[in-house]
Amino acid sequence: MSSRLPHPIPYQGSKRALAPLIGAHVPRGIDVWFEPFAGSAAMTLWAIHNRVARRYVIADVLEPIARLWQAIIDNPDATAERYRLVWVGQHDGDGDYFNRVRARYNASHDPVDLLYLICRCVKNAVRFNASGQFTQSVDRRRLGMQPDRMATAIAAAALLLKGLTEVRSGDWLATTSIRRISARRWDATSAIRANSSRTRSLQGWKACSYGARDLHSRMTA
Ligand SMILES: C[S@@+](CC[C@H](N)C(=O)[O-])C[C@H]1O[C@@H](n2cnc3c(N)ncnc32)[C@H](O)[C@@H]1O
Repeated sequence: MSSRLPHPIPYQGSKRALAPLIGAHVPRGIDVWFEPFAGSAAMTLWAIHNRVARRYVIADVLEPIARLWQAIIDNPDATAERYRLVWVGQHDGDGDYFNRVRARYNASHDPVDLLYLICRCVKNAVRFNASGQFTQSVDRRRLGMQPDRMATAIAAAALLLKGLTEVRSGDWLATTSIRRISARRWDATSAIRANSSRTRSLQGWKACSYGARDLHSRMTA
């Protein structure tokens, strides 16, 4: 089942394929689920799909990854459209395009530029130097995830995460604090509304096509 879950950030080392095996050892009825080394957040997407917890925290020390997840949750359509614009900028014969996006990312740390770099770099294996500059090279054998496929994956991931998930950035020791949770307002009502309308545009992604009633029962169970 996990292979059908959305996976908008194709990180090397993603637990996507292993999620069902790991999940077999996960207890149910968890109050707050933490994924402090989130990357692609594969385990959280699996956990929400399998309703193992009431609330979820995804966190990463790489701040642009955290901002990317926040953008996916808050503005899935705009994030997908921005990815499309970066992706279509690559043309045959322009062998330097990836390097220009990489230079732009290293100057501005734009999360959507990072998404493109992850999708297009060698083995989806991010590499950074000691100054935090992205250093991995382009994979010339493929173009990276197609924009339509990315848009579907982003929409489906947002549908799962919205209203249930808080995104944090920082070292895992700081981001796994339970005390910060109790002060936070989890806006379940607007999440239901948002997900209800989005569900209609997700035909074809059956594994993730939750309706409002289903979401509500997951949040109140
Ligand atoms: C191999 S990736 C995670 C893969 C993830 N399990 C998945 O399914 O995609 C490791 C992640 O941990 C993050 N990381 C490394 N050191 C960290 C730390 N001290 N605290 C929080 N995150 C950290 C990295 O930025 C990276 O995104």
